[in-house]
Amino acid sequence: MPEILNCFPLTVFKDGLGLDPAYRHQLGEFIAQSYRDGVKIGQSNRAAWTGDKNGWEFLHEEPAFAAFFKAVHVSLRAYLDMLSVNGERVALHYTRSWGTVSERGQSIRRHRHNQSHISVVYYPVKDRDTGNLIFHMPDPLNELSPGLFEPHAVNQGLLKASTPLNSEMVDLPVAEDDIVIFPSKTFHGTEPNNTNGQRISIAIDVVMTLNDATGVEYLLPPVGRWRESDEF
Ligand SMILES: [Fe+2]
Repeated sequence: MPEILNCFPLTVFKDGLGLDPAYRHQLGEFIAQSYRDGVKIGQSNRAAWTGDKNGWEFLHEEPAFAAFFKAVHVSLRAYLDMLSVNGERVALHYTRSWGTVSERGQSIRRHRHNQSHISVVYYPVKDRDTGNLIFHMPDPLNELSPGLFEPHAVNQGLLKASTPLNSEMVDLPVAEDDIVIFPSKTFHGTEPNNTNGQRISIAIDVVMTLNDATGVEYLLPPVGRWRESDEF
């Protein structure tokens, strides 16, 4: 038997966060209300409403969300542990957090959060079949000839099957109360919501800093040691 070694994986963390249904629905209603009552910049027939473009990018400052962010912290620590990152050496900071609402026909197109380190998605309200999360890899390491892993390759019989080893796109099934964590630099988007059901998500960008920068050339130093340039 040949030995197959899958080098350099992208690892996505998914877990049930375990929030009480009444509480997570309360969070969903908070987002739904800000959606109903507020401006809708960036939304169209095909594009979902995202709170970060509409004045709702700091949900971590809202008292109603405190228990949620406390629970997310536990998952983030488990994520770091899974990657063997020494959690005692680093601090995690919620820098931006916002809700999204996807109505029938709407999705979130491919993008990434380059200003951040770790990204989190949580589903406080998600009806069945309202669309999954999609991860994209524009230049997969296994794609030995450009275009070989694009969808047409299966249709044309160039690929006998679509598997995680030969895909530029991976569909991650997600359900209500799921939390998903991945590197912010990962391209991602969503399937369209093809139902009349509700899909509300919370997205969070997390920045990681060193607790002590002594002797460490990489990573961000502690925020307490930063100075705004106009202080001098
Ligand atoms: Fe995103």
